[in-house]
Amino acid sequence: MCKKCYISTPIYYASGKVQIGNSYTTVACDAFARFNRLMGRTTFYLTGMDEHGQKIEEASKKANMTPQELVDQVASDTKKLWQTMGIDYDYFIRTTDKNHEEVVAKIFERLLANDDIYLGSYSGHYCVSCESFFTKTQLGENDTCPDCGKPTKLVSEESYFLRLKKYASRLLQYINEHEDFIVPATRRNEVISFIESGLEDLCVSRTSFSWGIKVPSNPKHVIYVWIDALFNYLTALGYGSSDDKLYQEFWLNNDHVYHVVGKDILRFHAIYWPIMLMALDIPIKFKLYVHGWILTKDGKMSKSKGNAVYPMDLINRYGVDALRYYLTKELPLGNDGLFSYERFILRYNAELVNDLGNLVSRTLSMVNKYFDGQIPCAKVKTSYDLSLEQVATDAIQKTIQCFEEFRLQDGISETWQLVRRANKYIDETAPWILAKDEATKDALASVLYHLVESLRIIAVLVSPYLISTSKKILFAIDKEKANYRLDQLAFGEDFSQAKVNKIDNLFQRLDLEKELAYYESIKPQTPTIQEEIQSTINMEDFSKVVLKVGEIVKCEKHPNADKLLVSQIKIGTQTRQIVSGIANYYKPEELIGKKVVVVANLAKAKIRGVESEGMILCASNNDQLEVLEIKNLPSGAIIK
Ligand code: MSP
Repeated sequence: MCKKCYISTPIYYASGKVQIGNSYTTVACDAFARFNRLMGRTTFYLTGMDEHGQKIEEASKKANMTPQELVDQVASDTKKLWQTMGIDYDYFIRTTDKNHEEVVAKIFERLLANDDIYLGSYSGHYCVSCESFFTKTQLGENDTCPDCGKPTKLVSEESYFLRLKKYASRLLQYINEHEDFIVPATRRNEVISFIESGLEDLCVSRTSFSWGIKVPSNPKHVIYVWIDALFNYLTALGYGSSDDKLYQEFWLNNDHVYHVVGKDILRFHAIYWPIMLMALDIPIKFKLYVHGWILTKDGKMSKSKGNAVYPMDLINRYGVDALRYYLTKELPLGNDGLFSYERFILRYNAELVNDLGNLVSRTLSMVNKYFDGQIPCAKVKTSYDLSLEQVATDAIQKTIQCFEEFRLQDGISETWQLVRRANKYIDETAPWILAKDEATKDALASVLYHLVESLRIIAVLVSPYLISTSKKILFAIDKEKANYRLDQLAFGEDFSQAKVNKIDNLFQRLDLEKELAYYESIKPQTPTIQEEIQSTINMEDFSKVVLKVGEIVKCEKHPNADKLLVSQIKIGTQTRQIVSGIANYYKPEELIGKKVVVVANLAKAKIRGVESEGMILCASNNDQLEVLEIKNLPSGAIIK
């Protein structure tokens, strides 16, 4: 059995916040890495940030930051998010790391010296968002990007090119000889036909912006971000540096190297990356697992469409395990999955609350009730017991097999065969009837032993994705200190002397209607005034707005909406009621006594059933919000 394993996610663009769609690769790879560790393999799990390129330069301008400030901020936020999500990576690479930059610059020069890269001139359509060039025939309507639909830019400049044509037939031969190089086969076929349709040499440098690694011998050129980024898989292991021990161990002398990527970046990993490795005489050690997208009912998640869902929003409401479970279970290898709140809640209630949560709580309560918490042993075995043992043995073997092939969704289904069978076994064996008669005490003990032992097996099988749930189950059956190995897992643990421990319910049932009503209430409002009115206004328009100082004298939560607060505000001699969407940022008591800026002549409105007369002005930036405060002037003062 192979004892080593190297797993990598793509490195994330440091231009924005991770949403649940693109968190998938990292969650899935984390589950895969945990699985491999449980199989006894020394595992190196790499993730990180893609921090160069025009997209980042432009995002930093918008955010009024330097590119370095922006990427530092995004890298720090992303690391915190991964920590919260239980992502147990071994290294977090950033392409602005000095070592990475130096090695990439050297590699570029080497490819240039070997004539695998040459200087030419480029004219073509470039999509800044995807950092990709497209030929005229690939473009969408009005020269839009075929991948993301945004407008492309016509770029014409002196550029370096990587010789792809030269390596096309060697690459085809490699793919044909290594059937499992690209999995699933549909993606492999896609790559084969792309190569067969003819490869053009790839433009690998840009001169129209500066945020990137400069070509040392011609520094007005910045190395194409994809060339820079792909080498992260090697620089993270110390390739090209004075200490390349990890490169030797996890790349050169390892047959279990996996790159896991979404289908949108297949071409880069299946064509450009292996060709560069061939040009550099570095063995192609990796296998490519290609997954689909998590879609919403209106397509791919994106901030601009307003349909992005962020991991922390779900985690704060339902916990990390619920999100990890959903993502891992939702996406079959190769195909797309769907996200909707309804689907999330239904899956949560059916699979986590009903199936797993119930099995655990029923088992523990029966051990408490019938054996005073002492886990019994099985002296006799019925055909039901033997059949449950068989299901458990099959579940172990089949779950392992699926996880080995990165079929995580199928692996979870195999484990759930045991979860469901164990629930059915309770109904079939009816322990509450066995408990009525002393003569069936041994049979009852056997049933409960089989249930507790099933829980132990389930806890180990789910541990790659349900991290804290697994720990809680093992704690409940007094096995939290055991160091289980998946490849040694078998039915028949000895529980003598062990007592069950009390735990809270693993998952709370969710009220679908209530949850959906909540999401309806926080749906982004129709565009704000600022977004809607792009044109300028004149003084006359502005003077129509009456702004006054108001003092908040009372404030409470809105009865029908979690995001809203209802304030009573003294403006001179009168008191007004104003509803504002600031409950995520202030507790009601924090606002009392504050003197704020109020739009005093706004038409009255009913906001989710509560009357509001005016508006409190606030400043906001991404996730922060602050009400504007006046220090010295009294309430009622006019602001102009
Ligand atoms: N920076 C490049 C990768 C360079 S690797 C040398 C990149 N970054 S990304 O942030 O856009 O994407 C990171 C990962 O998220 C990719 O695997 C991508 O396919 C995946 N996903 C982005 N949106 C997704 C969904 N909606 N659903 C599932 N995965 C998706 O690409």
